[in-house]
Parts: sequence; C-alpha cells; structure tokens
Amino acid sequence: MRTVRSLTSALAALAVSAASAVTLTLTSAPPAAALENGLARTPQMGFNNWNATHCGADFNEDMVKGIADLFVSSGLKDAGYQYVNLDDCWAEKDRDANGDYVPNHTRFPNGIKTLADYVHSKGLKFGLYTSAGTLTCAQTMPGSLGHEQQDAKLWASWGVDYLKYDNCNNQGVDAVKRYTAMRDALAATGRPILFSMCEWGENKPWTWAKDVGNSWRTTGDISDSYSSMLSIVHQNMALASYAGPGHWNDPDMLEVGNGGMTDIEYRSHFSLWSVMAAPLLIGSDLRKASAATMKILTNREVIAVDQDPLGVQGAPIGTDGGRDVFVKPLKNGDRAVALFNESDAPQRIGTSATAVGLPAAPGYTVRDLWAHTTRETAGTLAATVPAHGTVLLRVSADRRWALHPPAVDVGVGLPVAYPGALPIVQPGTPVTVTTTATNAGRLPALAVRSGLTAPDGWTVRAASRRSTPALGTDRSFSTSWTVTPPQDAAVGAYDLTARTTYAGASAESTVQATVLKLTTPPSGTTYLSDLPWVRASNGWGPVEKDTSNGEKAAGDGHPITINGAVYKKGLGAHAPSTIEYYAAKQCTSVAADVGVDDEKTTNGSVTFEIWADGTKVADSGLLTTADPAAHLSADVGGASFVRLIVTDGGNGNDSDHADWADARITCT
Ligand code: GLA
Repeated sequence: MRTVRSLTSALAALAVSAASAVTLTLTSAPPAAALENGLARTPQMGFNNWNATHCGADFNEDMVKGIADLFVSSGLKDAGYQYVNLDDCWAEKDRDANGDYVPNHTRFPNGIKTLADYVHSKGLKFGLYTSAGTLTCAQTMPGSLGHEQQDAKLWASWGVDYLKYDNCNNQGVDAVKRYTAMRDALAATGRPILFSMCEWGENKPWTWAKDVGNSWRTTGDISDSYSSMLSIVHQNMALASYAGPGHWNDPDMLEVGNGGMTDIEYRSHFSLWSVMAAPLLIGSDLRKASAATMKILTNREVIAVDQDPLGVQGAPIGTDGGRDVFVKPLKNGDRAVALFNESDAPQRIGTSATAVGLPAAPGYTVRDLWAHTTRETAGTLAATVPAHGTVLLRVSADRRWALHPPAVDVGVGLPVAYPGALPIVQPGTPVTVTTTATNAGRLPALAVRSGLTAPDGWTVRAASRRSTPALGTDRSFSTSWTVTPPQDAAVGAYDLTARTTYAGASAESTVQATVLKLTTPPSGTTYLSDLPWVRASNGWGPVEKDTSNGEKAAGDGHPITINGAVYKKGLGAHAPSTIEYYAAKQCTSVAADVGVDDEKTTNGSVTFEIWADGTKVADSGLLTTADPAAHLSADVGGASFVRLIVTDGGNGNDSDHADWADARITCT
C-alpha cells in the first residue's frame, strides 16, 4: 500500500520529471521485503572496462570477447573471476521507437545479446551498466530513471546477470526510491541479476541498502594513483560492520596493472581490497597485462581471504604513524592479518597472535600470502614493510607449528632526519647502515648470518659481527655496515637489500637509499615555487608551480584564486598532498595564504599543515570552498626539512584543490 508520504514524493518527482522529460511509473511492483536474490554470498569477482578504457575506442566487442577468452585461458576463471561487465557508453544516445536501449553500433555491431551469449558460452557471467538518472555520467547514453521495469525486462531478455547502477543526472529524486525501484524491477524479471549500487556513498547506503543492493560504492571514483587508493582505504575501512554475505561495501574497481602505481602499491591495493572483503573487479586491459599484473590478480591465497565464506570485512585494530594492522577473521578460525605501511619509508609493523584474536598457544603457524612461505611464531607477528607495501599473513593456532622454521624478520635502517623522512645519501659520502634480524619463533634461529648488498659501484663494509650461532625467541641481532655511494652516483633511488640466512630458511628486506644533491635555500625570503622540492605527492595530477591544480597533466592549472583573490605565485596542490623542501637548519619561517581554489564550488574541504622535520608547527583547521584564504605562518627554526601537507578534511578528496598562495620561506 502506498503511504500518503510516498505518494507526495512521487508527485514531487513527477513535477521534476515534467521539466526533464522523465516519466516515473506510479504502478511499479510492490517493494520486496528484502533483496534475497541469493547472489554475492562472497564478494563478486570479475572484470569491468571503465578504469582501463573509459569511453575510448578500445571499449568494443573485440575487447570484451578477448577478456572473456583470457578469463578462461589464463586461469582467472579458475581463480574465481566470473563476471565480464560493460561500463558506460555501451548504448546509443537515443532509445528506439519502443523506448528500448539501442546497443552502440560502432562498439557492439552485433548487439549485446550476442555478446552476452558469447560470454555465457565460456561459462562466465555478463554485466551491464547504467545510471539511476536521465543520462549516464558520460552523458552519451540514457539512464533508467522512470524506465526501470522496461529496461530490466530488456536486459533479462539479453541474459544480463549483473547491473552496475550509477548516480549521475538523478534529477534530485530520492536515492532510496531510485535504487529500490530498480531492485524491484530486477526482481520482477525472475532472472537472478546481481545489483551493484554506485551512488558513491553520498546517501550513506551502508545504513539503508542492505536489502536493496548486493554491494554499494562507499566513495567517489578511484584513480590509478597510490594517494587515491589510500584515501579510499581510509573511508572504506571505517564501514566494516555494515558488510556481510549478499551486501558488501564497494571501495571501487581495481586499478592493478594500469601503470600508475608500482607493483608494491598494487599488491597493497589487492591485499587491502581482499582483507576488506571488497568486490574484486579487474580494471585493466588484460590483453596487455604484464606477468607481474597476472601474478597479483591470480594470487589464490589472497583471493581466498577476500572470498572467505564467513563474510566478515576486515578492520584495523591499530593505525599509528602510517602503520596499519588490519584483521579479518576467517571461517576456519584463522586470522588474515595485513601489515600495511602507508608511509614513504620502510617501517617495522608488529602485532601479536592474541591481539588479532587467536587463543593463547605455545606457537602459531604464519603463512605469508605473497612470499608463499610458512613459519612458526611464539606470538609476535611482525615484518619490516617497504614504503606503501603490505605484508599479508594468514595466522593459525595450528598444533603443527613446530614443523616450520622460526619466523625471522629483517630490517635495514639508514640515518634519517625524522621518522618517516627520506633516507638521503650524498655521492661519495659514507653512511652507517644497520641491519637487524629478529626471531619471533618459539624455536631458536640457528647459524644466523646477515648480508647487505648495494648497487654496482657502491662499497659495503661490515663494521661489526655478521653472524651469531643462535637467536632465541624475540631476540635481535644487529650488524653495522659502512656504505658509500660512488662519487658520480646519479640522483635517484637505489636498493639496499639485507638478507639473513639461518638454518632452514632465510629472510630479506630492501630499503631505498635516495641520492640527492641537496641545495641550501638562499638567504632572505624566497617563493617556494621558485625552489626545487625534495619530493612532492598529490591526490590528482602533479603539484603545480604558480597555478592551481588541473588534476591531470603538468601545467594544466589556472591562476591561483581563493574567494576572488588572485595570486601570481604559489603552489597548486590536490589533497592528499605533501611537498617537502630542504631547509638545511638555516631557515626561520614559512608563510602562505591557503584555501580551496575558486575553480571548485562544492565539496572541496581540506586542512593545511606545515611541518618542521617530525613536528607539526601550523594547522589551518578545516577550510572549504566557502572560506576566504587563511594566513598560515610557522616557525621552522632548526629544521632540516619543511613539509607542506594537505589532508582531505575527512570527507574524501573530491574537489580538494588546495592552494598554497604566495608560499614563501625565510632563511638566514
Ligand atoms: C561514475 C562511476 C564510475 C564510472 C563512470 C562512467 O563516475 O562512479 O565508476 O562508471 O561514472 O561514466
């Protein structure tokens, strides 16, 4: 029975529709009590073309068939990937005389049904996309608002098994109403169709959509950068309690293999999505995938964490100093434990078997799901994790722990100016490097011997003992090394790898030493945009000098403008961002006018911070598109390095164009 309230809102929606040519069906099927479509008992796995192609010419029948073929030939299907899904731009702009979607003639000359049949012939499932609006986001094809029943029927007749339902051009119609209407239309077809809601977390779908969709996007769109991936992790990790079999949080599709992150970062991306029980939708063109990409995507031990039938989304039990420990309880009582290092330098991250929820026991078995090794521990779970890296462990209170070698963790340390600082070395200048092996095992590690390797042309000399006969539980053994880069070492990052061997096993870890020629800033006051930075990272596109951030290529910004005030000098950043300068302990202050650039009028909200080495010395508080520029200045006396940091203000980094207008440093 329709309530007065819903009738009123339907009429209000009709009024909207009169202006925008939407016709809402007032006689839709009665809402189902719950989704109960039996699908996505574990998070869905498959492919979607969007991240690889957007609406480019590569998105066509050949591609989709090629992906389906590869699913079978390269073992992806066997690894659990099932859905082959089309995103935006699969249809013509206009509906046909019956009001039905028309497949895009150029991309899909043989229609969608033929393609779905092809995908089905491979034992796979087929998915489509549209928007709960009048047009899709790319605006090249119609949306389904007001056409839910007719469209669902058409897709079911084509054999569609999956619908991604976007949020663009929604005419302000209530989200619950729009998504519920499509849920009911899909249910009315009688065909099981997985319903993937994509309203970007705008209406907190985790609080209402459990009975509406099989999954819901929790954030804005991912992009192929570490900072985008990280910002999504921060948003999605807080929502663990809302996910479960049949209804998952969706932190967006995978970027693994698209080229904007390193393989270490892609392994973090894949590990964290798995620990967070996220849908695993491959977003790269597998026809061009490297061996490394395939290895990540087909790691069955990691996939098993994502697909664990208990269906619990893992959550952080600790986040501190860029060190995150995520725990996901698994059906057989094991725990998946992700040790994620968000920061730009290697860090040792540790927890314990009892802290991750395992019962007290004399020993535990630890499986490293990327190294594919098995070790025993007396309880400590620790690893030195590379910058942006994740060590993913599966830990069990298994009585056969003593069959495995003890878990030894190796760290390698270089002198740094503050915790998390870049380990910088100068050509021809010796530095002391320390390697440390720590035994977490219940059993002693025997015949322990450490080594350190550096690139050709570097000299490495042990300055203390390299071996010890035995290392007991939770005991460490350190060796000092004198390492000298060659006089002519070029600027860049160089691997130093520590490797410890012991009876039955070995362990290693790598740190990157950065060769940089540091230049002392001139005395007096200088615009920071006229100085070389030590490093810079940005949420979208590169940091711009003397313009705002244009989000994509270098040089695509505009004059820096905050609430009407235009600045000739400054830095154009996009949250989350860090820009670091060498101050050589010779500078006294940093100042800037900070704010969100006028080129964004909604959503942008950020905080600006100035750091002197490891200490925050200024903080703007939250600034949004509505605020005028705030003047920020800080005493940076004695600092070796100064960092300008922009955070996303806690609401994701959509539209966070952050200007450091007139940013300048004063040195003696
Ligand atoms: C939105 C969605 C994306 C993608 C595009 C297509 O931005 O969030 O995932 O589907 O639309 O235009």
